[in-house]
Amino acid sequence: MVPAYVPNPVAALCGGGTPIDFDRNHSDGRRLLGDGKTYRGLACGVLAGIAVGALQIWLAGTWGWTFLPQHTAASVVILSLGALLGDMGKSFVKRRLGKKRGEAWPIADQYDLVIGAFVLMLIFDPSWLLANITLPVLVIILILTPILHRVVNIIGYLYGVKKEPW
Ligand code: CTP
Ligand code: MG
Repeated sequence: MVPAYVPNPVAALCGGGTPIDFDRNHSDGRRLLGDGKTYRGLACGVLAGIAVGALQIWLAGTWGWTFLPQHTAASVVILSLGALLGDMGKSFVKRRLGKKRGEAWPIADQYDLVIGAFVLMLIFDPSWLLANITLPVLVIILILTPILHRVVNIIGYLYGVKKEPW
């Protein structure tokens, strides 16, 4: 899950500039995605996730670290891109519910990346998903994700990278 966990904090670090929705509104008069989803954040985040995944592949191959997950070029790209697509999908629904940018939406804010990554994996590489995300692994992911999310966001808030500690 590392390539899926990296994109969000990196997007928060380097995001800004042109919003993905180009400032456009939906038919309900609210923003399509909002100013919190930018092209720069998306690009940096996905590239960082891919870079870390590539490092995992290199480490596993070079040093024979078999305890590392069986990543492939496809799995790394899918996890990284899927994480931020899930984040965007969540923001789209958030705006439809009338929630402002940065407003907390518990559960969705924590699991959006997991859902996005798994849905994209189910579409493009279902065999990787079935082989690697076994029931115990899924349970660990479901427990670890909100804890990591909270810890990283508090750190980001303390350093002034994030406006809210969630
Ligand atoms: N970010 C970005 N581009 C993305 C995702 C995130 O630029 N594709 C940056 C934005 O600066 C954003 C910050 O990362 O404010 C934190 O991300 P997140 O918490 O997902 O966004 P919010 O501002 O909370 O917006 P939303 O309510 O839509 O989730
Ligand atoms: Mg947020």
